[in-house]
Amino acid sequence: MPTAPADGPSLARFGLGTAAVGRPGYITLGRDVDLPAERTVEALRQRTHALLDAAYAAGVRYFDTARSYGRAEEFLGGWLDAHPQAAADVVVGSKWGYTYTADWQASGVPVHEVKEHSAAVFDRQIKETRAVLGSRLHVYLVHSVTPDSPALTDRALHDRLAALAAEGVRVGLSTSGPAQAETVRAALEVTADGRPLFAAVQATWNPLETSAAPALAQAHAAGWLVVVKEGMANGRLADRNATGPDTAALRELATRIGTSCDALALAAAAAQPWADVVLSGAATPGQLSSNLAAAELDLTQPQLAALASMAEPAQEYWRTRAALPWA
Ligand SMILES: NC(=O)c1ccc[n+]([C@@H]2O[C@H](COP(=O)([O-])OP(=O)(O)OC[C@H]3O[C@@H](n4cnc5c(N)ncnc54)[C@H](OP(=O)(O)O)[C@@H]3O)[C@@H](O)[C@H]2O)c1
Repeated sequence: MPTAPADGPSLARFGLGTAAVGRPGYITLGRDVDLPAERTVEALRQRTHALLDAAYAAGVRYFDTARSYGRAEEFLGGWLDAHPQAAADVVVGSKWGYTYTADWQASGVPVHEVKEHSAAVFDRQIKETRAVLGSRLHVYLVHSVTPDSPALTDRALHDRLAALAAEGVRVGLSTSGPAQAETVRAALEVTADGRPLFAAVQATWNPLETSAAPALAQAHAAGWLVVVKEGMANGRLADRNATGPDTAALRELATRIGTSCDALALAAAAAQPWADVVLSGAATPGQLSSNLAAAELDLTQPQLAALASMAEPAQEYWRTRAALPWA
């Protein structure tokens, strides 16, 4: 695997996620204005490649994708093929466990993705991932694990994941929902052949949803790679949406220090001592550039404490998130 992201607020601690651009439909808030008018496969391939070009040029060295992000793995694989030098020094993470079912529709489909954490789905999806990413797969995560997921208990699946880890892939999970901390703690206990199985987690942390932090600190201390996702709460923490009382502390601090709300939110994530990589989910190169200004912010403890006052109860945060429409 290429070198791990460095400590400190360098750009190598930031990653680019491809959920917003690998398929026409997703839950972020301004897709109508931010994506090309015609969300064809070629238009989104070009957008993804433009984001990867800009992120790599800026110093970003972690790229995140998933089987269920439409054609995102394929778009990333094509970009890596065209940039062999870059391919040699980036870390590529993907996920399995959801199957994309929206048939390139943005909305109006009953189900956009189907979740199943079974050995059979792993067997199919690891082949699909390898077909497009080949050996350039460094991190492979079970997608959106919750405490009831069979991924925490299925021994046949654990044997397969252990075999993948033996090939040099860092095996882990991403988490979603109000019980992220419980999920991470359960995953820390999972062993295969007497050794800890998982070595990476991607979890939601942002100033509105901080509940996973103590468990993520434990994971980091155990040597796991800890990646932060949804650092802007799916766009709720971008300037144009951060207008209500729930985001007043973010707005006020951003104004005081002369930055954008999105950069400040990502800087707060990067300031967490357990966070190895913080993802930008930018949909445009302009958003990416705004997001990456986070790398220049070195927040003080009083500033972080001011943002900590924004945290919502996890149940409330995830209720709001579940209501975001696919568009
Ligand atoms: N379960 C999982 O494993 C899981 C779940 C979610 C995400 N992820 C990963 O994490 C990555 C990031 O998560 P995310 O995209 O859901 O959330 P996010 O990073 O919190 O939000 C990204 C969205 O915020 C908006 N935004 C960002 N900067 C902006 C700016 N300067 N001005 C206005 N709007 C701005 C954009 O949406 P609009 O343009 O639509 O407004 C963008 O798509 C994903 O790409 C994916 O790789 C993983």
